[in-house]
Amino acid sequence: MAPQPTAADKFSFGLWTIGWTARDPFGDATRAPLDPVEAVHKLAELGANGITFHDDDLIPFGSDDAARDGHIARFRKALEETGVVVPMVTTNLFTQPVFKDGAFTSNDRDIRRYALRKVMRNLDLAAELGASTYVFWGGREGSESDAAKDVRAALDRYREGIDLLAQYVIDRGYGLRFAIEPKPNEPRGDILLPTVGHALAFIAGLEHSDMVGVNPEVGHEQMAGLNFMHGIAQALWAGKLFHIDLNGQRGIKFDQDLVFGHGDLLNAFFLVDLLENGGVGGVPAYEGPRHFDYKPARTEDYSGVWVSAAANMSTYLLLKERAAAFRADPEVVEALAAARVGELKEPTLALGETYTDLLADRSAFEEFDPVAAGERGLHAVRLNQLAVEHLMGARS
Ligand code: GCO
Ligand code: MN
Ligand code: MN
Repeated sequence: MAPQPTAADKFSFGLWTIGWTARDPFGDATRAPLDPVEAVHKLAELGANGITFHDDDLIPFGSDDAARDGHIARFRKALEETGVVVPMVTTNLFTQPVFKDGAFTSNDRDIRRYALRKVMRNLDLAAELGASTYVFWGGREGSESDAAKDVRAALDRYREGIDLLAQYVIDRGYGLRFAIEPKPNEPRGDILLPTVGHALAFIAGLEHSDMVGVNPEVGHEQMAGLNFMHGIAQALWAGKLFHIDLNGQRGIKFDQDLVFGHGDLLNAFFLVDLLENGGVGGVPAYEGPRHFDYKPARTEDYSGVWVSAAANMSTYLLLKERAAAFRADPEVVEALAAARVGELKEPTLALGETYTDLLADRSAFEEFDPVAAGERGLHAVRLNQLAVEHLMGARS
């Protein structure tokens, strides 16, 4: 039996995920548009507690002020009726032709100024709805032609944009934190800030870097051939995991946005283990929303959409159960010790020891036998197999 999600699990979904009508570059929509009000009610029924959106998902682009107010009022009512919250909001800076060369990094200065205004307007709404995180996914910030984009100037403009918006949030007292979402390509041939590592380096140079973190997406790192769990571990290590986009991806190809776990399931297992058990003393390492950014397959009708939404949550909860069983298994505890996993937490030099002491320690070098040390096995495969067996439910 799949476990049932509750609000305490903090599962959230983008309005653009369940509401994707499945238009792709080769074919038309296979589903009718989803009313945001219905989305809120349906998610509440399924046990999710949060919904997120781009401005244009909720308020169709070009709406006048009266229409805009109407869309917001209906949505708010649905939130009040269900208790669903809005933990994160983001801006659509990619659909409209005006953003074809980017938003904050468009070569066209007027477009950069327009993009900043579009975000500022939506920051007001995010604060009004009580969001705590604001995501920046720069899907169009990039190029197909290396001749046509000055990457260093683009990074200057990117920084200028984020610095200005951070100042706006501070001055207005909105209390929002920013999370930059990396992606290597698609829709641009090459996107700026392509991986978690690039984003972390960029953030370090921002004026208000303390309020900016990352929103890594499973499939985006995997599109670059990277280990997502490692990326998350480094983001946590840097204190920068402000939000997360969970989904599935099978290898280096177009962005599949599959259901969470429907790609690299073993990496998903280690990811959930890290998020849920990776804190000091085995507590969760991440307390924020478990946000699903997936696309219900084009083959599905709305009954299939809701099955796929539920699948994201039950897969997460099943992995959480399996990870807890893995950690509690005495054989795993023994295998972790055999693999010397805990020893890595021990600093390489003792407290107060200096390099002079290290130089004086004959056991560290003169009397050390590197050949014998090189012969010691690490027993890592046995440990991995134990994880696989727990994941498959072969151990309880
Ligand atoms: C993608 C991206 C987007 C962003 C979203 C938030 O796969 O195209 O992940 O879905 O997460 O636009 O800004
Ligand atoms: Mn994606
Ligand atoms: Mn995403």
